[in-house]
Amino acid sequence: MIFAANFKTNHTRASTRIYMEALKEKIVSKKAEDSVYIFPPSTALDAFEGNFTVGAQNAYPAQNGAYTGEIGVEQLEEFGIQTILVGHSERREMMAETQEKVAQKFAFFKEQGFEIIYCIGEPLHIREKGFESVMQYLLAQFEGIDIAYDKMIVAYEPIWAIGTGRSATVDEISSTHRALKKAINDKPLLYGGSAKPANIKEIISIAGVDGVLVGSAALDVEKFSEMVLS
Ligand code: 13P
Repeated sequence: MIFAANFKTNHTRASTRIYMEALKEKIVSKKAEDSVYIFPPSTALDAFEGNFTVGAQNAYPAQNGAYTGEIGVEQLEEFGIQTILVGHSERREMMAETQEKVAQKFAFFKEQGFEIIYCIGEPLHIREKGFESVMQYLLAQFEGIDIAYDKMIVAYEPIWAIGTGRSATVDEISSTHRALKKAINDKPLLYGGSAKPANIKEIISIAGVDGVLVGSAALDVEKFSEMVLS
């Protein structure tokens, strides 16, 4: 299983260091086949010690250059970071990242050999239209994306389940993952959206779920390590 924590715009450089030190100790007994990823905000990126991978939530598709407010590969290389989230719904919605932009970013980081956690997810009005509309919407988010890329992990995060405390149901996760797995040739597929200690066992036991991408519940190292060890 893959357990990934997306801090979003939470934690500081100081609190991230405390978190990572605690995490390192807490997950020493994790199963060898399980992997843990942490995506801190860019100001907290660093080379940390521990049995986990640190990734970037976002970066500009360039080595370096005149991209005010952005970081590029050079800033990630400083800390040996080779993993990145691409296509998160918050960036698609709030930062107006179009499918074209997302696909360009994916292609760039693929070219750099990065491991990419590629995020997709539908809004509530699409889910309410039924399964067929959901799949049509999700599959359109693979436009321009090389699904054969061997360092791609997909994260299915229904937007209406993100940060709401209400995760998708077992049936919704199960049917969506089954269909997505076929479309992505069985690539690793994570679920994200209100995953927490109370529902983690249920979620990771669903066929087609290879792990979770966790926001809110992962901000607390106790809760996140409880999920990793579940
Ligand atoms: P929550 O776990 O807070 O619902 O966030 C999920 C998410 O968006 C992770 O990328």
